[in-house]
Amino acid sequence: MGLVKKEGLVIGSLGKEEVKQFYQKAFGKPPARIVRAPGRLELLGNHTDYNGGLVMALAVDKYIYIAASPRNDGQIELVTTSFPERDTFYLDKIEKNPATAWANYTKGVLLKLRARGVHFTGFNAAIHGTIPFGAGLSSSAALEMATALIVRELFPYRLGENSLELPPKREADHLPALSPTEKLRIAKVGQAAENDFVGVKCGLLDQISSLFGKSGQVIQIDCLSNSVQNDPMPPGVAIVVADSAVKHELSAGDYNELRAQCESAARKLGVQFLRFINPPALEKNKSKLTEREYQCAYHIVGENQRVVFGERALREGDVTQFGQYLFQSHASSRDYFHNSTPQLDTLVEIAQGLKTCFGARLTGGGFGGATINLVRQDAADEFVRLLSDEYFARTKIKIQPWVAQIVDGAG
Ligand code: GLA
Repeated sequence: MGLVKKEGLVIGSLGKEEVKQFYQKAFGKPPARIVRAPGRLELLGNHTDYNGGLVMALAVDKYIYIAASPRNDGQIELVTTSFPERDTFYLDKIEKNPATAWANYTKGVLLKLRARGVHFTGFNAAIHGTIPFGAGLSSSAALEMATALIVRELFPYRLGENSLELPPKREADHLPALSPTEKLRIAKVGQAAENDFVGVKCGLLDQISSLFGKSGQVIQIDCLSNSVQNDPMPPGVAIVVADSAVKHELSAGDYNELRAQCESAARKLGVQFLRFINPPALEKNKSKLTEREYQCAYHIVGENQRVVFGERALREGDVTQFGQYLFQSHASSRDYFHNSTPQLDTLVEIAQGLKTCFGARLTGGGFGGATINLVRQDAADEFVRLLSDEYFARTKIKIQPWVAQIVDGAG
């Protein structure tokens, strides 16, 4: 697994109008429907989701758009602005195609929807993304959620607990908004697609965030009950995203390995999830674990605590204290969980030295990608400049940090 240097790729900021035009060019007609699903930033709570834990996230203004129309010959044809290859396949033969690995997220969702009883015929779809690849903003979950929603637009369905419920009816050309329960079921379809078809044993953080985002609000998820709450982000804070522009290529394998360590630690500690372990219990039972299991458990137990404390700090509008938990979270990733990289550490170290930064940490799975920085709003431009200049001075890598807006979830 080598390190690959990335170009800090952002695939244009085109939006709905542009995906429409791209569809028209690719298929010779305007699309019947368009949806979009945002990427997410993990604010605090690293790898806690599949450990039944607590996590805070933000849906941000980078999206996957899909424009589509139904067709009747049982074929699905996908095009994307990100890669040159088209993918055409029959409904009854949805398989991986090594030339179009990007389509796996869509195919996985189609298979899982069908397994849930959702009926659809063929369709043409044009996919366009403004979420930078490999930055840890989960373009994959956004693509999964956009796929589930475009199928709903073309062939309306409503997922019940185990079977289907009566499909929603369009009023004034719009389907009714998804209920929280339906959103959660759709999020689970995306997670199942990623676990079983793509092969990443992810939790539900990314899919939930893409669906449950609210403008200006933090998404708080309790992954034991999958309950979701939105709370306001205190005013005066800018969210700066800094893509380190370096990522490990085989991060799926690394990710699954971390999950396996956490699960094996939980088993040896006699609990279903590490969520049920507090710091004294971990120390008391340290001898039951391998060194690696202990390190992973230490990170998760600490992250859950930091989210509890962080929630309180946010509620009190104490961004300075909240920011400290971000720095601590990063240190724990670096020193215990080992899902950071030297470049992410450099970004956080630089940020920590800048007076206008409240807190910074890696965001998402790790092994490269981006840091999230909470910065005094009136100093955001200056922070972006100082961070990128100093990062260049130390690594010779040019980056373009950007200020993210917190947006509504997919629709
Ligand atoms: C990735 C996964 C999520 C979550 C984060 C780490 O984004 O897809 O389920 O585990 O990493 O918190």
